[in-house]
Order: sequence, then C-alpha cells, then structure tokens
Amino acid sequence: MTNIHPSIDGIRRILVIGAGTMGSQIGLVAALAGYDTTVQDISEQMLAQAKAELSARLEANVAKGRLDAADAETALGRLDFTTDLDAAAAGADFVIEAATEQLEIKGQIFARLGRLAPDHAILATNSSTLGSSRVAAATGRADRVCNMHFFNPALVMKCVEVVRHPDTSQATVDTAMELARRFGKEPVLINREIPGFIANRLMGAIQREALALSAAGIASKEDIDTTARTALGHPMGPFELMDLVGLDVIDFIAQATYAETGNEADRPDPQVAALVAAGRLGRKSGQGWYSY
Ligand SMILES: NC(=O)c1ccc[n+]([C@@H]2O[C@H](COP(=O)([O-])OP(=O)(O)OC[C@H]3O[C@@H](n4cnc5c(N)ncnc54)[C@H](O)[C@@H]3O)[C@@H](O)[C@H]2O)c1
Repeated sequence: MTNIHPSIDGIRRILVIGAGTMGSQIGLVAALAGYDTTVQDISEQMLAQAKAELSARLEANVAKGRLDAADAETALGRLDFTTDLDAAAAGADFVIEAATEQLEIKGQIFARLGRLAPDHAILATNSSTLGSSRVAAATGRADRVCNMHFFNPALVMKCVEVVRHPDTSQATVDTAMELARRFGKEPVLINREIPGFIANRLMGAIQREALALSAAGIASKEDIDTTARTALGHPMGPFELMDLVGLDVIDFIAQATYAETGNEADRPDPQVAALVAAGRLGRKSGQGWYSY
C-alpha cells in the first residue's frame, strides 16, 4: 500500500455522491460546517429536487430563528450540484458515497473514484448494509476507504458510525472521525465489519423481541410500544419505529443480514414479510402495523 496519510487539515472540498434522502442532507451538513461541497447524482431531476428541498429547509430554519439568514445564504453558496462525476471527483478531498444501495452501482463508483480522486482523498460509503471492504479493492487505495454511516434525517441525527475494514489505515479512521465531529456529529468507531453495525443491530434485537412477544400473544403491539416509551424512555415503540423506517426497508435489511450471517436469529420475520407482500409498508403507504 502507499505512504499517504490523509489529514483533516487537507480537507477543503467534499464530494457527496447521490442526491437522495441521505446524500442531499449530508451535503447540507458539510456545507453548514463550512466545507465547499459538491453533490453529484446521475439524475438531473434528483439534483433539482435536492436543491429545492435544501433551500426550503434552510428558509424554514431561518424563519424559526434556528439559523442566521446570512449563514443560510453562505451555506447555500458553498453547495454545487452536478451530474459530472469525473470533474467532481478530481476536485474532492473527501468523498461520501450515498448512492442507491446496490453493490454493482457502488462498485462502479468506487472504481471510478479510485482513478479520478486525488491520492490523498478518503473514499467513504454511507451504505447501511455493505461493508466498505466490498468496494475497497476496486479503488487501488483500500487503506483510504471506510464506512461513514449517517442516520436519517442526517441534518438532525447526531450519530455517525465509522467502520473500518482490515486494511483501513489509522489516519483514515482518525480523519473520518474528526470530520464527523466538525460536522457537529458524535461519531462512534466500529473496529470490524459486522452486518447492521451497532445501531441497526440494537434496533434489530428490540424488534425481534417485540415481534416474538406479539406473535406469542403475550401483549398487543400497542402495549409493547407503550412499554418501550413509558418504561424505557424510547421516543417511539418498536412497531411504530418499523412503520416509520418502512417495512420494506426492515425486510430488506433482514434479508441482507441473514444472507451474510446465515444465523437463524437473523431470519426475516414472516409477519413483516406478509405486510410488505400486502403493500402495507408503514407510514409511507398509509398502512403498516398501524393505519395513518
Ligand atoms: N434512507 C435511510 O434511512 C438511510 C440511512 C442510512 C444510510 N442509508 C444508505 O444511504 C445510501 C443512499 O440511500 P438513500 O435512502 O438516500 O437512497 P435514495 O434512493 O433516496 O437516493 C439514492 C440516489 O442515488 C442516485 N444514484 C443511483 N446511481 C447513482 C450513480 N451511479 N451515481 C450517482 N448517483 C446515483 C439516485 O439517482 C438517487 O438520487 C444507501 O447506501 C443506503 O443504504 C440510507
């Protein structure tokens, strides 16, 4: 491998790939933290939508007195939107990939980034289910590749899981952790790739228990949700949370985890699968465990 030691002080321009739910907000987080930021997507429409949504969000925050109007304008001025990955990568000091969750897409992006981004640039993926080792070799700089996993909504949620793979260098880990802090986040370090990282594993364990209690008729889903809120101080119960995240997403994560671990405890839940098959995806479809 190389002798390149990326450092936080070398970071001026951040490239975020993907202008969807996560990428758009991660871009604004970076711009609000003072970084020149490029958001790249293959879809002009997604870029236009992201730009409009972020402007509206800034305006709302100014109206609520949470943000100074001048700071909002400065942050917007630091954001560029483009479909041109080659040019964007050439000017980036740090890349956060938040494109569609498909290994083939991410593999192609990371191979291109390996060729186009400056040598000192760290290449991070926001993937929820794919460890960065799956795309690291394609870059030719595996030591500068890691996961940097934000939570939805990225503007609000404080946690960032930084996950190293066996070849990730210490300088890469240190720089990614420090960048997350400069973004105003509270990063945590995960020393080894594991499906679900930490947060989704904790959430999965609670969900599994809640589903088992409900299936066995021990208590209703309403009472299980109430217990999580009133006894444990959770902001919402596990069934409410599943509806918020989307039951299709819950099912997809379980399938990906089970495919990787083969562990019986990770097997996708048949009750969730049945709801998905019936088109009941949670809040976004108007019906899930509950009706909205
Ligand atoms: N949604 C969540 O709650 C959440 C939370 C944490 C992490 N993630 C992860 O973030 C990533 C993005 O998820 P999302 O929910 O924002 O998805 P999304 O579907 O909202 O957005 C994905 C975007 O990627 C774009 N895209 C597809 N192929 C591309 C390519 N080759 N180059 C550039 N852009 C491309 C799409 O046009 C789309 O705009 C995934 O890896 C996901 O696992 C999602």
